[in-house]
Amino acid sequence: VAVAQTAASRATTLDALRQAIADFPHCDLRRGARNTVFADGNPAARVMIVGEAPGRDEDQQGLPFVGRAGQLLDRMFAAIGLARQSPDATRALYITNVMPWRPPSNREPTPEEMAMMVPFLQRHVELADPDLIVVMGNTPAQAVLRQRGITRLRGGWTQAWGKPVLPMLHPAYLLRNPIAKRETWADLLSLQAHLRG
Ligand code: URA
Repeated sequence: VAVAQTAASRATTLDALRQAIADFPHCDLRRGARNTVFADGNPAARVMIVGEAPGRDEDQQGLPFVGRAGQLLDRMFAAIGLARQSPDATRALYITNVMPWRPPSNREPTPEEMAMMVPFLQRHVELADPDLIVVMGNTPAQAVLRQRGITRLRGGWTQAWGKPVLPMLHPAYLLRNPIAKRETWADLLSLQAHLRG
């Protein structure tokens, strides 16, 4: 993990961080992945979303949240006027994952794999410097907040890495449990109020 901290801290721009991750050899997941998935959207966005890890579609395209869960994510945030493509930082999203490589058969990343990559995520947040962070699901809640149990964590704001953090349910969970979209709608309204605040 010290090697990760050193590599991450040396990067002083987002491009340098992307390169540092692409060159980082100390995570076994990279061997099974086709692409390193760094980020998508507008790096100047006020809102930075952190997901878990690339799935099959993301690994193929080299971009986060482009499969079914990603399409739901785009629709959710469009409902409060936010889009990853927006050139206007107040209406844009910047999207990344805890893990830049797809785990085999989409298993959850192990605590060791996460610990190795968290220094890069923390540096990513520092360099993008959003106004707030949305953590989607248990893996980013663990990485950023050091807590699991997203169904309990969601519903309020917390603080980490010097930023307000909004824990939300993962869109893949919402695809399996559409009834929970009610909770996500409440969280999106809370996010919108925060941005207007
Ligand atoms: N799920 C995630 O957590 N991240 C992605 O990029 C895609 C699916």
